[in-house]
Amino acid sequence: MPDRTDILIVGGGLIGLAIARTLRLRGASVTVFDRDPEPRGASWAAGGMLAPLGEAPDPGPFLAFGLDALARWPRWAASLEAESGLDVGLHAGGKLLVADTAEAVQSLQARYAWQAAAGHDVVWLDAPAVRRVEPALDSGWSAGLHLPDHAHVDPRRLLTALAGAARAAGVHLRYGTEVRGLDRGPEGLRGLLLADGSRVRGGWVVNAAGAWSGRIEGLPAPLPVRPVRGQMLALTLDEPLTTGLVAGPAAYLIPREVDGRPTLVVGASMDDAGFEVATDAATIAGLRAGAEALVPALRGRPELDRWAGLRPGTPDDLPILGVDPRLPRLVHATGHHRNGILLAPSTAAAVAEVVEGGAIDPRWADAFHPGRFDGA
Ligand code: FAD
Ligand code: GLY
Repeated sequence: MPDRTDILIVGGGLIGLAIARTLRLRGASVTVFDRDPEPRGASWAAGGMLAPLGEAPDPGPFLAFGLDALARWPRWAASLEAESGLDVGLHAGGKLLVADTAEAVQSLQARYAWQAAAGHDVVWLDAPAVRRVEPALDSGWSAGLHLPDHAHVDPRRLLTALAGAARAAGVHLRYGTEVRGLDRGPEGLRGLLLADGSRVRGGWVVNAAGAWSGRIEGLPAPLPVRPVRGQMLALTLDEPLTTGLVAGPAAYLIPREVDGRPTLVVGASMDDAGFEVATDAATIAGLRAGAEALVPALRGRPELDRWAGLRPGTPDDLPILGVDPRLPRLVHATGHHRNGILLAPSTAAAVAEVVEGGAIDPRWADAFHPGRFDGA
């Protein structure tokens, strides 16, 4: 283990690992630190939807970044599979958003209007058409918006494959190693201070610590990243009930295969519970009811598992991406909130570009700028 590497990355979630692999493949020496012996942050807990049009509130920088990421996904997944020898569970199948009340239909129509006007691949569905796309849906859903080019991935397989690909490329993975903070001197950023008191020298530090990104000691200014808890459950099926992603008002559904068995992942709540990662019975029951309202055949299906994770949220729900304006060679790659799985390949490309002397793409550079919250 060298005591000096070019790039030190705090956080071995999907964002940290994606950056590490990309930089290593471009020739840098890279070390990733994660306090968990087996990282199980938001990346492990996620649903795995790759759905920029389903998540974007408007046609702004988030959508541009998300579409950039979606376009990278097939090639990125194929590379990770080739490098790791593992399947990441990427599936096409689209995403279907459904509505029942007049208000919900109107809101979906508004989304359809701006997305269709911008030329995106979106299809408006009446009630019979909703059931033609996903026949298992309850007949009470009166309208739907179909996003045919959206996809999903298995985040746990992906995390394992990405760690394998990073390791195969020569990234040093220091799992079980907590970072206390930045090691700074009069000359600027020296590297990292670890929780055991030791120091590691590095050329660049990448803060990819997810929901904990603001807790790294020695940051030049407070980083307003907050944990947004999400709870999920998985139901075991006899056979797949849906082909793609489905989202209703109280739950979304993601098909997944677990140990060779068809499974449906149901998500997800959003609340502020601090750094507490636990599920509660009432929230899980609410999600289950939301899922059964979408697909009645889910009633009585056995629960395989339930879990929670912490999304890295920001005040404007946008990522924090780029060099810290107050400390050269410190890069933030955090705040991916509800979409870090989707955004991982574009985030890795952006950070690699910056470290190599380039700039963040102007389509999202200002919107994601690390100094935007205090005008730095
Ligand atoms: P994490 O995966 O949380 O990784 C951060 C890592 O940093 C952790 O492993 C932690 O141990 C480590 N760390 C923190 N502090 C330190 C320290 N001081 N020293 C050492 N290590 C440290 N996104 C999508 O795109 N699609 C989805 O369908 C989707 N569904 C979601 C569902 C749920 C329930 C949740 C919770 C999230 C979902 N997300 C989804 C969001 C996505 O999971 C996150 O945006 C993404 O995983 C963030 O990745 P990350 O690497 O930044 O954070
Ligand atoms: N993107 C889905 C979630 O965060 O729950």
